Amino acid sequence: MTGETIGLFGGTGSTGNYFLRLALEAGFKVQACVRNPDKIDKEIQDKYKDKDKDQLVIVQGTFTEKQDIAKTIQGATYVVCMAGAPMGKPKEYPKDIMLTFFTTLTQVIQENNTSSTSSTSSSTSSTPPKVVLYQAGAFSPTPDRPLTMIHSVFKAVGQWVMGLGPNVDDNTQVIAYIHQNINTLGFNTIVSRPGMLNDKPGGNVQLKADHFSPTNFAITFSDLAIWSLKAIQDSSLYGTFPFVVPIDQDILPRKKEPAASNKEEDVGETK
Ligand SMILES: NC(=O)c1ccc[n+]([C@@H]2O[C@H](COP(=O)([O-])OP(=O)(O)OC[C@H]3O[C@@H](n4cnc5c(N)ncnc54)[C@H](OP(=O)(O)O)[C@@H]3O)[C@@H](O)[C@H]2O)c1
Repeated sequence: MTGETIGLFGGTGSTGNYFLRLALEAGFKVQACVRNPDKIDKEIQDKYKDKDKDQLVIVQGTFTEKQDIAKTIQGATYVVCMAGAPMGKPKEYPKDIMLTFFTTLTQVIQENNTSSTSSTSSSTSSTPPKVVLYQAGAFSPTPDRPLTMIHSVFKAVGQWVMGLGPNVDDNTQVIAYIHQNINTLGFNTIVSRPGMLNDKPGGNVQLKADHFSPTNFAITFSDLAIWSLKAIQDSSLYGTFPFVVPIDQDILPRKKEPAASNKEEDVGETK
């Protein structure tokens, strides 16, 4: 094992189930908050949820409960959120669920941090995580950089035809909260913003962070999971809100970023 722990929300979801497997295969201990443990493959549970090893710890619960969040991130080196309310059912969307989750998560980390730095506490298990990765989507802008015209049109179609409105708006609120409080949160964040996702076999397309443009091509849940596991270990991404795109997107013509340096190679700063 790596000796590092990941607190994971959404480990039974479309991206999260790939991430869970990858993280365990890579030797991380994973504490996964899941409502229904039966949704995790039996093969994974048999291999990693061993009485002696406990490389996989299932916290049966919901991310709407502060105590379940606290258990999931206890002692975690990294926290990853690939959770979300179901898409395409706007009338059933639990209002502000992700914003409430993220602000509660922030509260838990800050309270843990305060108690670990107090003179009466000798515990080291409450050190804040190195980073919290929150998976949002490409239709959610940051406050300082609105969507391009074409992506605003795609977003409108997504909202009205596919019923994605509340999911996108909730993720946008989370992004705004992180953006506004980035210097006072007390922990690092990465907000990933993938575009269209599909469940085709992955593993062949390498992805990268793009701080300027989303992709017009669908990427796979499994490739996104691979990228996300690398991203949490890459401190150069901490504090950023990247779109996640195929590496070969560079072959497409790129719009020059007005605020970037004059050097041609700096345009479209990517990693
Ligand atoms: N899917 C896409 O095409 C797409 C594209 C771009 C961005 N995104 C964004 O990526 C993120 C993850 O999406 P996804 O499609 O990978 O996930 P998903 O398949 O929608 O799965 C959602 C996950 O969240 C869990 N969850 C929901 N409510 C919960 C609660 N109260 N407590 C604990 N767990 C809860 C679900 O658990 P259960 O298994 O128990 O339901 C499931 O594991 C979202 O922010 C989404 O907007 C998705």
